[in-house]
Amino acid sequence: MSTGVIDPGLIDELTGIVGAAHVLHDPEMTVGYSIDWTRRFAGATQLVIRPGDTAETAAVMSALAAAQVPVVPQGGNTGLVGGSVPLVGEAVLSMRRLNICEPVDELASQVTLGAGVTLADAHAHAAASGLSVGVDLAARDSATIGGMVATNAGGINVLRYGAMRAQVVGIEAVLADGTVVSHLAGLEKDNTGYDLGSLLAGSEGTLGIITRVRLRLHPTQPERATALLAFETAADAVSAAAALRRGVASLHALEAVFEEAMALVSEHLGTTPPVGSLGSDPHRSLPDRRTGGTSDSAPGEDGGGAWLIAEAAARTDPSDELGAAVEELADLVVDAAVALDPAARQRLWAFRENVTEAISAAGIPHKLDVTLPAARLAEFVDGVPDVVRATDPDAQPLLFGHLGDGNVHVNVLGPGGAEPADEVDDAVLRYVAELGGSISAEHGIGTAKLSQMHLNRSEAELAAFSAIKRALDPAGLLNPNALLPPVA
Ligand code: FAD
Ligand code: MLT
Ligand code: ZN
Repeated sequence: MSTGVIDPGLIDELTGIVGAAHVLHDPEMTVGYSIDWTRRFAGATQLVIRPGDTAETAAVMSALAAAQVPVVPQGGNTGLVGGSVPLVGEAVLSMRRLNICEPVDELASQVTLGAGVTLADAHAHAAASGLSVGVDLAARDSATIGGMVATNAGGINVLRYGAMRAQVVGIEAVLADGTVVSHLAGLEKDNTGYDLGSLLAGSEGTLGIITRVRLRLHPTQPERATALLAFETAADAVSAAAALRRGVASLHALEAVFEEAMALVSEHLGTTPPVGSLGSDPHRSLPDRRTGGTSDSAPGEDGGGAWLIAEAAARTDPSDELGAAVEELADLVVDAAVALDPAARQRLWAFRENVTEAISAAGIPHKLDVTLPAARLAEFVDGVPDVVRATDPDAQPLLFGHLGDGNVHVNVLGPGGAEPADEVDDAVLRYVAELGGSISAEHGIGTAKLSQMHLNRSEAELAAFSAIKRALDPAGLLNPNALLPPVA
């Protein structure tokens, strides 16, 4: 494997395949491809190649394989685990130019999309046929369909439609040696052997370069109602979330923001949430539905305040269904705001959708994206700040996430926005594993969690993963620093 000086003959060959405009080696041009969205992971590369279609991707991979040059596939570079950037001088294969949306197949409710199509463009394309893509997330303007399959992205609608893997009904990819594998018919029933779409989903660029994806689409649910609910404790929010999941058939998203994250995003937005009270604001008081008076312990006063955003979506107005379910929660909810029109709904969503931006503006966090079993979720939310502070007393844990599917994002900032101690990651992820959770809910392993894979996966499983990797990429050229230890 070579990460040394790139042979000028290889650059000529690549230029012949994709054109001079799409082989970048000037450091000023390549730097943006070498640092990730969080700014935590940065490397350098001598070579960024931007193929325009599957045939060019195959020819590029064949040339890189012959020269034994390792390569990191990259889509929108919005990944949060350091898997999308070159860390030891790998070439970068930018897939953004594969951005063709083929016509929607309305008979099958499916569409085939180029790997570089952004999620926002995919949504707009499907919407023109009255259909929608089952996954949505805040990085929608940049995240690509190829990157989202490669990470098995989750987002805000997993509780309704599943994650990205569940949307894939066909895939086309280029293997490490330049071979093209293509299975895009999209037959709902198709038991003809291994499912390469499922295998590549979540493979983080280590098994193949995804070039086209056929996605199942869902009927649009244009009528929406959104509630922002404030709670005194995480346990109350978890109980309410479970009740909403059981009781609201049209439930579309169920997100959480906990005290410190809510304080930060509120400061970032320059406003406070319309319900609930931030601990630092002594002037706000809350109507207490239990007593009819004012609550003594507002969300945040004991560090346990929590907010849920619950969104119902349907073909017909779901506000009665959501409203009735919220009424049923009177014993748990401190206060609630419900919005129906898009602008008002967006004002509630801002307190969730802008948390990542707010944290990034405050510093460089360690992002620990985890899932807990429902029965341990509240215990984890209450316990994890102590786990963080016991490891790094100056660190600030910020919690939010997709509570409806058990996914908590534990973001940790060090003093003044610096990174916290590295040991924080290990302590939190060990705690997750002890409680029976997953150390990666939706962002993947990348390089960030490589050394903790053993917390969730047995020796036998890791050996099976390595055997699959060796079979498809014997020289270990594909994203060698992500997901699995580099091939020896
Ligand atoms: P990249 O970041 O470019 O790459 C991610 C991984 O996929 C890398 O390992 C890369 O090598 C590989 N890869 C990329 N393209 C290909 C390809 N064509 N073939 C093979 N491998 C490829 N994620 C969630 O799951 N849920 C969220 O709610 C969510 N919200 C986010 C909000 C913000 C503000 C941000 C910045 C990120 C968020 N993310 C979320 C993370 C990120 O958007 C997802 O991981 C997304 O799937 C990455 O897509 P991308 O195109 O940017 O991939
Ligand atoms: C989110 O849900 O907002 C994300 O996955 C991004 C993050 O963890 O910051
Ligand atoms: Zn998320």
